[in-house]
Amino acid sequence: MNLLRTIKERRSTLSFKSEKIELSTLKEIFTYGSYAPTHYMTEAWRMKLYQGEGKEHLIPAIIESYQRSGMLPTGNSEKTLRSRASIADFLLTIPHHALIYYEIPGDPIRNEEDYSSIAAFIQNSQLAAWEYGIGMLWTITPYMHDEQFIEKIGLERDKHKVVAVLQIGYPDKTTRDKGRTSVEKWMEVIE
Ligand SMILES: Cc1cc2nc3c(=O)[nH]c(=O)nc-3n(C[C@H](O)[C@H](O)[C@H](O)COP(=O)(O)O)c2cc1C
Repeated sequence: MNLLRTIKERRSTLSFKSEKIELSTLKEIFTYGSYAPTHYMTEAWRMKLYQGEGKEHLIPAIIESYQRSGMLPTGNSEKTLRSRASIADFLLTIPHHALIYYEIPGDPIRNEEDYSSIAAFIQNSQLAAWEYGIGMLWTITPYMHDEQFIEKIGLERDKHKVVAVLQIGYPDKTTRDKGRTSVEKWMEVIE
């Protein structure tokens, strides 16, 4: 595939095959990600990659956060246990979860630079993955902003920010191609 085709053909992956991806392949993919532009070469992206039994360190923390936020009920009624188990099962079926975070710099401009660069890192990684036949879903979910969740996964609430959690695996179902609005609509040419 060539880059321009991949940019247009990549789709977000909504469900994944159960097959795990070799760690060496994921390392290659994120190496492509790391060629993203990065001001002052901070390379601020940091990652916790959860896979196999490692998912047991992430999924319970997500469930507890959902309960704290009211997205999932607390208690032990049969219905509650069932809904909790079904979300945990769904998350378990996703072969890899890459939690992308960074250390928040004190300076607000540096902060914007690092955050922007990490978004570029993620998109580079998504495009590289697609070339390997691997799908990702870029997610931003409420638990990422839950300070107790941040501490639970071993980060520091005042020091770190979680930018995204990437769900990764071989695609089973992807979004349909919705196309994009012509950029001319958003472009004001001043000459
Ligand atoms: C910052 C960001 C956060 C996103 N968060 C979610 C999410 O939480 N859940 C989800 O299903 N998709 C999420 N997406 C994926 C978008 O919904 C998806 O890119 C969009 O529907 C266009 O589809 P495509 O990526 O297949 O072109 C996110 C995308 C971005 C850039």
